[in-house]
Amino acid sequence: TSTYSLAVVAGDGIGPEVTDQALKVLDVVAQGSGLTFDRTAYDLGARRWHATGETLPDTVLEEIRGHDAILLGAVGDPSVPSGVLERGLLLRLRFELDHYVNLRPSKLFPGVPTPLADPGEIDFVVVREGTEGPYVGNGGAIRVGTPHEVATEVSLNTAFGVERVVRDAFARAQARPRRKLTLVHKNNVLVHAGHLWSRTVEAVGAEFPDVTVDYLHVDAATIFLATDPGRFDVIVTDNLFGDILTDLAAAITGGIGLAASGNVNPDRTSPSMFEPVHGSAPDIAGQSKADPTAAILSAGLLLEHLGHAAEAQRITAAVEADIAARDGQPRSTQEVGEAIAERVATEVPVA
Ligand code: NAD
Ligand code: IPM
Ligand code: MN
Repeated sequence: TSTYSLAVVAGDGIGPEVTDQALKVLDVVAQGSGLTFDRTAYDLGARRWHATGETLPDTVLEEIRGHDAILLGAVGDPSVPSGVLERGLLLRLRFELDHYVNLRPSKLFPGVPTPLADPGEIDFVVVREGTEGPYVGNGGAIRVGTPHEVATEVSLNTAFGVERVVRDAFARAQARPRRKLTLVHKNNVLVHAGHLWSRTVEAVGAEFPDVTVDYLHVDAATIFLATDPGRFDVIVTDNLFGDILTDLAAAITGGIGLAASGNVNPDRTSPSMFEPVHGSAPDIAGQSKADPTAAILSAGLLLEHLGHAAEAQRITAAVEADIAARDGQPRSTQEVGEAIAERVATEVPVA
């Protein structure tokens, strides 16, 4: 048996609602597998900010750092100025814990409604850079609120940062049957960063001769995601492009309620963090309407990261079975979580 310490940051809006269901499913998997998750819940997010002004105190960050993995719900609330929690809590965790691989798999499960008329087989993974790009906060504004205001948000791209994520993406592509890597950028306009990315893919690619390499400008990539998503296997891209592409990827594979992600530190120098791709959804918060499937699948990615692929597969199989049985009747967040937990508990795992 293995015991893991798990930091839980449920966060805001629907975050706690979907995280409860993910933990419920994780507990059922653990029971049947001799795994133990010692959970510590962290009260971070809008409530704490209003009460204390804190987003992520250093002492709390250091405590979280001591865990084996992190499960996060969502952060952000309309009562808090936009960016305070997103930058001060979520991005701070990603940056401080060096989550340079933001892993976002997209798979169209059988029976899932998709807006695409002829979706074909969709099974790709976006390797989104997680610690650089326009997210670093390298910007500023002067003459704010005047007609002469000037605002910058400068994208940071380092050879070190690009190479490590590109190498990780190549390794993932090599381990998949189709062995195809698509770099998505905008090197026809963003020539400084874009050429660094292109040169890096070319150089690292020499070490992976069995991986086919492809390049798309990000605007064209959105066309193909909507018209021919089957062409994608592994996509590697920068932090902001990856953010946008993965909401679109979610939309074509059954919606944002199904999209899971991992903020991974492949070097294991700090705990990785698993969370749904979606946000705190203030428009449906507190109504038990949120689909917890993305959070549950994120717990599956967490298990896989900890080396428990068979247990992760039990979650995927239960979710697939639940999805196949969905008949369009609305179910509450709890009902969906309960149904998936039930399937994990009763279905014989496929070896
Ligand atoms: P959002 O993902 O929260 O919501 C977009 C739309 O998707 C909404 O209509 C929402 O109801 C719906 N939706 C989201 N998750 C759903 C689920 N599980 N089931 C059913 N419907 C779901 O994005 P937004 O509205 O742009 O952002 C809301 C807040 O969340 C903002 O504060 C934003 O900064 C934050 N945010 C946080 C994260 C995160 O914590 N990782 C991610 C995205 C946005
Ligand atoms: C996501 C979110 C975050 C991002 C925000 C809330 C900082 O949109 O996880 O996709 O842009 O990475
Ligand atoms: Mn996003």
